[in-house]
Amino acid sequence: MTDIRIVPAADFGGACLEALQEAGARSRSITVGLPTGSTPIALYAEMASVAAAGNLDISGWRPFAIDEYGGARLHPCSNRRFFERHWESISGAPEVEQFDPEAPDLEAEARRMREAIDAAGGLDIALLGIGLNGHVAFNEPGSAAGSTVRRVDLSEASRESARACWGDETPAWGLTLGLRELFSAETVIIMAHGAAKADIVARAIDGPETVHVPASLSRRSARAIWVLDEAAASRLKR
Ligand code: PGA
Repeated sequence: MTDIRIVPAADFGGACLEALQEAGARSRSITVGLPTGSTPIALYAEMASVAAAGNLDISGWRPFAIDEYGGARLHPCSNRRFFERHWESISGAPEVEQFDPEAPDLEAEARRMREAIDAAGGLDIALLGIGLNGHVAFNEPGSAAGSTVRRVDLSEASRESARACWGDETPAWGLTLGLRELFSAETVIIMAHGAAKADIVARAIDGPETVHVPASLSRRSARAIWVLDEAAASRLKR
């Protein structure tokens, strides 16, 4: 089942939180995959403000980072640093289980994350952005629907986006949850804002279901919710 929600840009963070709370209402202790990037910033800010007012309790959640760059763990552009800035400012936010890109054995590191998620019973919610090339987490175009946690080479499109922060140190690889972990979540929430995403959002929702647009495979999930601002939704057929 796919549910598409289109809201004015100013309401984007609030609409993302509403979808998240709805999906997480079943239990206090949900397991959730969390994204980084520019897309979720409004959501995390909204969560910080609602939690500060005492109206959001996520202390029982079990969050996992959905990906990490293959750079220094404490590089200012690492996802670990992103979570410090944007997630940890939410009052009561539990610590995010993260990838360690400096682990000596990356296969073992991927296995550690896979086993931690499996032990938690899989993800209840996969909260995702979408890349300009249709990737979700670092599952680049061509990723198999059954792909699991692993080290991946980043596409040129992803490296180009990363370059704005990483500059000359832009990593060539990353660690990511697979499409298997993400799209077998009970609820998949994909967020997109801004006109730059309009084309890829339309391809993911209205185009063919294809590994060339990994986000299009979210249609196989039990429940997929797209939260879009009007600009990101502007090329949808409906
Ligand atoms: P963005 O990245 O939120 O910075 O646009 C989204 C993504 O690449 O998944």
